[in-house]
This record gives sequence, C-alpha cells and structure tokens, in this order.
Amino acid sequence: TITSVIMAGGKGERFWPKSRTNLPKQFLNISGNKSMIQQTVGRLESLIDISQIFIVTNELYAELIRGQIPHLPAENIIIEPVGRNTAPCVGLASIIIEEKFPDSTMIVLPSDHIIENEEGFMEILKAAVQVADTDNNLVTLGISPTYAETGYGYIESTSEDLQVVDDLEVYKVNRFVEKPDVKTAEDYLKSGNFYWNSGIFIWKVSTIRHYFHTLLPQVHDILETMKQGFHLSSREETIQSEFFKMPDQSIDYGIMEKAENIYVIPCTFGWDDVGSWTALDRINDRDDDGNVIRGNILNIDTKRCIIESNNGKLIATLGIEDLIVVDTDDVTLICTKDKAQEVKLLLKALRTQK
Ligand code: GDD
Ligand code: MG
Repeated sequence: TITSVIMAGGKGERFWPKSRTNLPKQFLNISGNKSMIQQTVGRLESLIDISQIFIVTNELYAELIRGQIPHLPAENIIIEPVGRNTAPCVGLASIIIEEKFPDSTMIVLPSDHIIENEEGFMEILKAAVQVADTDNNLVTLGISPTYAETGYGYIESTSEDLQVVDDLEVYKVNRFVEKPDVKTAEDYLKSGNFYWNSGIFIWKVSTIRHYFHTLLPQVHDILETMKQGFHLSSREETIQSEFFKMPDQSIDYGIMEKAENIYVIPCTFGWDDVGSWTALDRINDRDDDGNVIRGNILNIDTKRCIIESNNGKLIATLGIEDLIVVDTDDVTLICTKDKAQEVKLLLKALRTQK
C-alpha cells in the first residue's frame, strides 16, 4: 500500500500580503484555478485513494482544509496544537498511519509546490516507492540546481550503486547538507554532482520509525507515549497534552543529514517551491516587457515588474522597473525584486508595532 503525508503547517510569510496568517499560501490560487493544496491532493489522487492521503496542519487551518478538500475523511486531518517544524510533523503522521496501514510506503510532501509535468511526477513516484520498499531506504527527489540557493538542502550523489528502475536513474547519496552558506552552495553548484532537495521524501513507515528511534530518540519517546495515549484516551486529547513537548526540529537536519541508505532520483518534471513573489517570474507568462500581471492593471513603460490587484481596484503604473506591487483590501506591498526574500521583515516590524 502507498500512503501520503502532506505537510501543510507553513505560514507562507514571504507571500505576504496575499498570504496571511489565517490564509497562508497553500490555500491560495497562486497558479491555475485551484489552491496549491487542492492541486497537491488532486495529483496524488491519480495514484492513491483519498483514504490513504493524510494532511498534517496547525489547528488554525483545519477548517480551511475541510472546506477546500471536503471529500477527505475527517480522521485524515492530523492537527498540531503548535508548529514544531517537520520532524515532529512526520513523526506524528507516521504513528497514525502505522495504526491503519502498518506496511505502507509513505510519500511525504509539501502542500505548496508547483509540479508542471504531472505524469512524469507519477512515474518518478512509482519508481521511488520501489526503491523505498527495498531495505531501509530513504528516497528523495532531486532537482538540478541552477544557482547557489541557500534556502535548500543539497544532495551529493555517487554513481556507485547506480540502479535503473523503470528507465529512471537512481543514485546512492553520499551526503545530504541542509541549507549551506553561499560559499559552500557555490562550490556544490560547480562540482556538478549535487542536487537540490525537493522536499519530497519516500520511505516505508517502518523505515522512518527506525530512523526516529536511532537518530531522534527524544522525538521517538514522545511518539511512543502518544501511541499508548491513542488507546487510553482519544487521539485529539493525546496530541493536545503531548505534542508541545516536541523539540523544534526539521526532518532535513534531524534525519536526512545523519541517515544512511539515502537514494536520490533526479527529476525533470518541472518543480518550483514558490518560495517568494519572484517565483511568479518563473511560473507565469510574462508580457513583452517582462511583467507578470494579475487583476486590473494598466501599465505604460513598466518593465520586469510583478503586479497584482486582488480587489478589482485598478493599479496604474508608469515608468517603473523591477518592482513587486501587490494590492489587497487592507495592505499594499511595494517592494524591489531583490528584497523579495525579506518581506518577512515587514511582518516582524508590524508585530512589534502592535
Ligand atoms: N504540519 C506542519 N507543521 N507542516 C510544516 C511545519 C510544521 O510545523 N513546518 C513546515 N511545514 C511544512 C511547510 O508548509 C512546507 O510545506 C514544508 O513543511 C517544508 O517546510 P519549509 O519551512 O517550507 O521548509 P524549507 O523551505 O525551509 O526547506 C525544505 O524544503 C526545501 C525545498 O522547498 C527542506 O526540505 C529543504 O531541504 C528543501 O530544499
Ligand atoms: Mg519551503
């Protein structure tokens, strides 16, 4: 059996002001006419039944998920009372899935990525499941890097042990380095045998439980206590009383950097993690002057801008370049493109003002 865990607890702060604490990026239509999480679920449904799909999220977003994915069984929404990053999120999902699908292989993925070639993606997932089913293998999907991004994990592949599964190449991973500094990222880019970690992982439930036990024993112990609690009281009560004890830890630092038996499958399905506003340059069509526009816009002599009106109001621009302009009912963002990663600073400043 194949099961899937969609991680959907992120706040999407770099997509402010369109993405808000009560309606973050994964619940918005950034591309296409469905929200990002609806697209993620839809893609998985061509491979598995909805009853095998689990979504882990913060309690703030449970209602949004029920509204956007009404056919998802209620018990498949796993609710965290507090965000502790991705290791506790995956750990919690693994003990819940273990109860119902103990022999399953889990596809763990973010809720807010763009995948262009859905068929290609499915072929790669099928091959990844085969590799994950062999031994205690951890499988990641790798993306060929195009610049020295420091917000990603890097995967060094070796051609030793090269396997071909369903016509796809599968490499043994030498090491996994989460978020290196620029200098290191540049070296990795030059050396040519590194991939970006897409953040999509495939492993058996038993494999990831094994790695929690050996690499994150503190998380493992809390998971064991929770498992007992599920039978003594309810799942909700147990999570409410135990989950806040979890350390803040990502799966990348906590497990991927330390584990052995990691394999990577290079991907060509067109991937984007839509990390900030400038992602729209990569994923949307541009006009002749290189602008990406959405909504009611009038522009003259405007070059390489991202302009979005979300309330029907006309945005008129003249003689501007390389700017991001986003209008919502209560906030207008005007920001240079090179500051797109730092939009979070505005939010921080707003919070300290209050
Ligand atoms: N349920 C839940 N709870 N989900 C969470 C939590 C949490 O506490 N924290 C993060 N998530 C979700 C986010 O919504 C996102 O979909 C996914 O988990 C990954 O978290 P990010 O916070 O976006 O991670 P990142 O961007 O710093 O790095 C990861 O993704 C990169 C690719 O986009 C790493 O896996 C990197 O190695 C990778 O390159
Ligand atoms: Mg991310």
